[in-house]
Amino acid sequence: MDYKAQVTNALYTALDGELSSAEIYQKLERPKDFSMGDLAFPAFTLAKMMHKAPNIIAAELVEKIDKSSFENVEVKGAYVNFFLDKMAVSNEVLTTILEEGAAYGQNDSGKGGNVPIDMSSPNIAKPISMGHLRSTVIGNSIAKILEKNGYHPIKDNHLGDWGTQFGKLITAYKLWGNEDDVKADPINNLVKYYVKFHKEDVEHPELDDEAREWFKKLEDGDEEATSLWKWFRDESLKAFNKIYDKLGVSFDTYNGEAFYNDKMQEGIDILKEKNLLQESQGAQVVMLDKYNLNPALILKSDGATLYITRDIATAIYRDKTYKPAMNLYVVGSEQTNYFEQLKAVLLEMGVNSANDLHHIPFGLITVNGKKLSTRSGRIILLDEVLDDAIELAQKQIEEKNPDLPNKDEVANQVGVGAIIFGDLKNERINNIDFVLEDQLKFEGETGPYVQYSHARAESILRKAGKQELKPTDKHLDDSAAWETIRMLQDFPEIVKSACQDFEPSEIAKYSLRLAKAFNKYYAHSKILVEDENLSARLSLVKSVSIVLKESLNLLGVQAPDEM
Ligand code: ARG
Repeated sequence: MDYKAQVTNALYTALDGELSSAEIYQKLERPKDFSMGDLAFPAFTLAKMMHKAPNIIAAELVEKIDKSSFENVEVKGAYVNFFLDKMAVSNEVLTTILEEGAAYGQNDSGKGGNVPIDMSSPNIAKPISMGHLRSTVIGNSIAKILEKNGYHPIKDNHLGDWGTQFGKLITAYKLWGNEDDVKADPINNLVKYYVKFHKEDVEHPELDDEAREWFKKLEDGDEEATSLWKWFRDESLKAFNKIYDKLGVSFDTYNGEAFYNDKMQEGIDILKEKNLLQESQGAQVVMLDKYNLNPALILKSDGATLYITRDIATAIYRDKTYKPAMNLYVVGSEQTNYFEQLKAVLLEMGVNSANDLHHIPFGLITVNGKKLSTRSGRIILLDEVLDDAIELAQKQIEEKNPDLPNKDEVANQVGVGAIIFGDLKNERINNIDFVLEDQLKFEGETGPYVQYSHARAESILRKAGKQELKPTDKHLDDSAAWETIRMLQDFPEIVKSACQDFEPSEIAKYSLRLAKAFNKYYAHSKILVEDENLSARLSLVKSVSIVLKESLNLLGVQAPDEM
């Protein structure tokens, strides 16, 4: 039963058609203060239309409302406050959660539509940057949220594995490279060669010619160039996969830029056919004045293609292959202008899914005030940050629960979870700095706090032993219990809203609120007392455990049963 719909119906009848159901539904608010009821209708939104003072409208309205299915309906100023029937709601919410388990909150609004998510997308032979990492974690969570809303996400790692830099890398490797070094530590050594190339090439500009030749060979499919390129790619991917494994993220495809190298002609043909290409200083551009954007450079004067040329091919390919309901690109906010251009070009070309192209930007992250960049000379710092987090988690567990059987596994789940949660609890567009130690605390706004609350619920259930769970009875008069249940009731709407906004932080913030409410309940009431309401209390605990675990799951964070 949708209680918001129930309140909407009561108001709709009382308002006698002044507002549509959809309008009423949308106006309903969830008061923070419990004395204001469970749902509130702001009457001031009618003041203009009805030419009356809001509090008079509210007072007249409350007279007309059929109150029989509510605990109470009362006026407070310009608001009509509805108090739901706690027993009925509790019973229903808990029964639903116990029945549906992890599927609670699932909806089918996505109707199975394919949604390719361009995510992570690091560059071969370079360290994975913090931006790529954020993209990985945010993209992974959005994929899970989409699935929960009935979509079919396709996690697509659009590797930066093509471009003139590979000519430089091959040149450098052939001059100074060593196979064993690359195998032992691919990223560091490949970067070393690349850096050396740029140093040497100042005094030996002929190196540039050589690099151009190697790239040309690569484009022409030369055997040696191709096999070196492929090897660099494989070794880099191995290094990336170590990090992905630690984070627990996998991909459906790794079709990088190189994959689209032989698929660009179609896009160029469409651009020509539609007369969209214009010459500008020898190069080919698409004018985007109409969109208030700078011209997009599609082909260089020597006919060479660019990042955007490959992205156009990518969009056409995804359009044909997946017939996407939406096309998502989880890429840092520094590329916002670029994606505006890409979308505009695709719209001009008439690519079907261009209208549903969404760039999902995010801000920068620093840890302990330090940028997790690669230029500092310390490469793949992120790997170290993850290891530091795991170590800190280990220490905490050693202090709190030294007898825990699978300590290492839990330390991994807590350490990695702390980093992911520390990222996702912030609105993605914000720049964030987090202090590692703070994110690992078992109290406060942290992943471990939510994990700990879930483990606490599981521990209560373990202590209770085998019990029949029946969510009835009066214990729910307890206000902390009601607060918790109301929050459980909100979960399906949070799932929808997080999907609409592509915003994992809504789930993370929700999980913090739920954990807090549950801990308050736990502090207030003796759950494990043998009385006639025991089973009902345990139903609440079990429901909290299910919803906390599922919230964490939607973020890509594990929920150990014991910690
Ligand atoms: N490899 C690019 C970079 O590191 C990100 C690719 C994003 N995806 C895309 N389809 N352009 O900046």
